[in-house]
Amino acid sequence: MNNFRGDTMKSINSFILPRSGKILKNRTVLAAMTNKQSHENGVLSEEEKTWLIRRAMGDFAITTTAATNVTEHGRGWVGEMGVWGDHQIPELTNLATQLTKAGTISLAQLFHGGMRAPQTINGVQPISASVNTEPGMNGIYTRALENHEVIEMIQSFTDAAIRCQKAGFDGIELHGAHSYLICQFLGDITNRRKDEWGGDLEGRSKFLREIIKSIRKAVGPEFLIAVRISPIIEKIGIYLQDSLKLADMLSKMDIDMLHISCWDVFQKLDDEPDSPSLTRLFREVMTMSMPLVSTGAVWTSKDAQYVLDEGADLVGVARVGIAHPDWPKYLGDHTYSPQRPPFSEEDLLEADLSPVFIDYMRSWKNFVIGGN
Ligand SMILES: Cc1cc2nc3c(=O)[nH]c(=O)nc-3n(C[C@H](O)[C@H](O)[C@H](O)COP(=O)(O)O)c2cc1C
Repeated sequence: MNNFRGDTMKSINSFILPRSGKILKNRTVLAAMTNKQSHENGVLSEEEKTWLIRRAMGDFAITTTAATNVTEHGRGWVGEMGVWGDHQIPELTNLATQLTKAGTISLAQLFHGGMRAPQTINGVQPISASVNTEPGMNGIYTRALENHEVIEMIQSFTDAAIRCQKAGFDGIELHGAHSYLICQFLGDITNRRKDEWGGDLEGRSKFLREIIKSIRKAVGPEFLIAVRISPIIEKIGIYLQDSLKLADMLSKMDIDMLHISCWDVFQKLDDEPDSPSLTRLFREVMTMSMPLVSTGAVWTSKDAQYVLDEGADLVGVARVGIAHPDWPKYLGDHTYSPQRPPFSEEDLLEADLSPVFIDYMRSWKNFVIGGN
């Protein structure tokens, strides 16, 4: 089943998720992308649905939503999609139905901002594993969650997953990357707790592992659970050796795939050309049957093949999927090398981005002509 090593480009064509037996039409994943188009109450807008459905129709095997918040007060930004309330279920259902119709596997990315959920947006003091702050939070420090609140937060993640299941999603992805709440528990700088939720990696990962167990118990065996982590974020105390140990632990749990957010899959450890890639390092510590998704700076079909050759089962992309919604359809061509940024507003409108999303993309360096 895991026939990635040494394969030709044909291997991009399909993949079976081993635990569930679900068949993917190819090995591509549209990674989660925040697009700030949801309504104030967290309900999906037409524009946000259009953007995702267009990529599903472009043959992404897995289509992931933007990071979507599991509690009302954990929002990281304005225009964020929510899964914290039943009022969000009708539009979630509408999206999930259309994604399924387009033949993609749909995942909603569940998260909570933690120390990155500004008081200016949520009206409450942010929370985290410990007392922390972040640049851009107006000097406001978080409150450490009390033990009973940690348990309640696990339930909020579980309730959100149940809502996604009711709406018809194939599964969820737990956002344990990029310094948001789950990641703040994992980091030994942001998590200085002395109780069962802190301490060594076993303790710091307990929050994530309990969320997984609680969700699996609630949703049954069929529903997919993906977990996304960051291999290294030294600023908050996420180190490679810990992340590799965590990957090993997670690969023995009842999840369906582990997703590493590399930002640059070509980067070698310590910038030494002979060092192994992050993808290879994670593949080597994980149970062989656990699918690995690796994402970061993939643009061409050659890039996608590199990620598979390094041991990933699935190739994640974000930015190339913004400008090229049909990207997976061209991967059979070994020379495929689509246009690179910056893109004009017209290019992006053509790719079914709304003006709001295009505006947001102006803040991403060199992505939109005339932007940052
Ligand atoms: C506009 C934009 C929004 C993003 N939002 C999220 C998000 O909500 N959740 C997440 O895990 N990653 C998010 N990311 C990171 C991407 O999923 C991806 O890991 C990163 O962009 C590197 O992949 P790429 O080089 O293919 O773009 C975002 C990236 C972009 C460009």
